[in-house]
Amino acid sequence: MTGERPPAPVRVGDLAAWKREGRRFAMVTAYDHPTAHLLDRAGVPALLVGDSLGMVVLGHPTTLTVTLRTMVHHAAAVARGSSRALLVGDLPFVEARRGLGRATRAACRLMSEGGMHAVKLEGGGPAVELTAHLVARGVPVMGHLGLTPQSLHALGGWRVQGRGEAERQALRVALRELEDAGAFAVVLEGLPAPLGAELTRGSGLPTIGIGAGPGCDGQVLVLHDLIGLTVGPTPRFAHAFAEVGAAITAAAAAFQEEVAAGRFPDAAHSYR
Ligand code: KIV
Repeated sequence: MTGERPPAPVRVGDLAAWKREGRRFAMVTAYDHPTAHLLDRAGVPALLVGDSLGMVVLGHPTTLTVTLRTMVHHAAAVARGSSRALLVGDLPFVEARRGLGRATRAACRLMSEGGMHAVKLEGGGPAVELTAHLVARGVPVMGHLGLTPQSLHALGGWRVQGRGEAERQALRVALRELEDAGAFAVVLEGLPAPLGAELTRGSGLPTIGIGAGPGCDGQVLVLHDLIGLTVGPTPRFAHAFAEVGAAITAAAAAFQEEVAAGRFPDAAHSYR
């Protein structure tokens, strides 16, 4: 026994405390047991089971096809792999748009079956009403404003938001409304850096940026972008901190070569 206590689990309220202290933090997406375990071990304080899993794990062109069943399946695997991080799960496109009752049942399944501590909702307007509804029922909600992928078609494509004054004003209003509705944090995606900084300064809500500049309180990246495992082009804001995709290709090629040459398995990897 070393007497060392494991680090305390991260709670939703910690993010606001970190904002007040000026302490920046990271969030990373996770979709399965081993990566959740590794991210938790790395000390990443918040894991997002994002519906980006439809794109980066399942190969769909958008997030719109992701079902609740798929989300719960992956969320539960992440929850089994993590012991400290705050776990947030995306409410899928369909569930968030079929009324308060269905959305509430979906959020509850993400928490009770998926082991999430909170859910994330995209957009303002109806999502604000849903946020207040869920918060009143004990479901912590993270908002998501700006380039919200579930509204991809309504927004006219993968387009940076907040370029004009009307869009900027709508974002300011939506952020205030989300704060009033009781959200505990908000993702800001695809915004000019000065707007990300302005929204962060003007709000009590901790902001977590992705393509919204360095002025946000925290930053989130999609795991596959962060480790160099994304198939196809990555957005300008993404950065690969490792080249896991290249490592997988090299390992598989080496295995194949050793097998073809009759060198694998050798005696050390065989039973007597
Ligand atoms: O689904 C997701 O991964 C997200 C992040 C991009 C914030 O919503």
